[in-house]
Amino acid sequence: MLLKNKTAVITGGGSGVGRAAVLLFARNGARVVCADINAEWAENAAAAVRAEGGVALAQRCDVQVAADVDAAIARAVNEFGRLDVMYNNAGVATAADGAARQLTDQGDEDFDRLVSINFRGLLYGCQAAVRQFRAQGGGGVIVNTGSVAGMVGWGGVMYGATKGAVNQLTRGLAIEVAKEDIRVNAVCPAGMITNFGRNAGKGFDTPSAETLERYGKHHPLGRPIDPEDAANAALFLASDMARNITGVLLPVDGGYTAA
Ligand SMILES: NC(=O)c1ccc[n+]([C@@H]2O[C@H](COP(=O)([O-])OP(=O)(O)OC[C@H]3O[C@@H](n4cnc5c(N)ncnc54)[C@H](O)[C@@H]3O)[C@@H](O)[C@H]2O)c1
Repeated sequence: MLLKNKTAVITGGGSGVGRAAVLLFARNGARVVCADINAEWAENAAAAVRAEGGVALAQRCDVQVAADVDAAIARAVNEFGRLDVMYNNAGVATAADGAARQLTDQGDEDFDRLVSINFRGLLYGCQAAVRQFRAQGGGGVIVNTGSVAGMVGWGGVMYGATKGAVNQLTRGLAIEVAKEDIRVNAVCPAGMITNFGRNAGKGFDTPSAETLERYGKHHPLGRPIDPEDAANAALFLASDMARNITGVLLPVDGGYTAA
């Protein structure tokens, strides 16, 4: 029960890492607002929490719209009294049509989508959370989903650049708000198999054993990285166990960046 009586907002909570975190945070005692652009997926995740006796609400939220992000936090405050943890996790890998293009083949539309969701959307989450933490008198935790693609060269150059921005925002903000006892860290996963990437987040499917094996071979530890692995790292960073950890980019990458 690492988050007993805490309130968390998780963006991109309808699928993949976010969904895993919604379930895990709730199992650890948190009251969770599951915020996702896909209202059906958000409700599905929140309902899964309630079905096992936890507390979760779904909120449709497009992180590209500051008012949506504010509304997700306001929902947490109105329903549960406060905000303790903001997990800025929503992100996309590809162009809106799902194609993975080389940098030289990408246009303004791809650029705008990646920057607007992965960076600006996350920035709105950080700003809104810090404002709420201040209104509560200080303290609070932000966890961002960065990526190893923001730390080393990795396929998807423009995507990696947005994640590099997320990683750097995490460190800079951590210093700016440290004196207010607000901690800011990032979980940086390597390749996981989620909705992300393969079909532009448009639906769920189950990866084949061959795909899982291929992903596993990317990492020294040799096994695939699951969304739950990233959610576990987020839980630790969100909890008081990490009370003296801020400004950290925590790879969940099976040793990939070390190698
Ligand atoms: N899958 C990977 O290999 C991998 C690796 C490193 C980092 N990440 C990061 O992990 C995070 C989660 O990705 P995932 O793999 O779980 O993907 P996913 O596609 O399974 O889940 C992403 C969720 O974000 C939601 N979303 C998309 N755009 C949104 C928006 N504008 N506003 C609110 N919600 C939005 C989607 O509806 C979906 O529910 C992302 O930030 C991604 O960049 C993923």
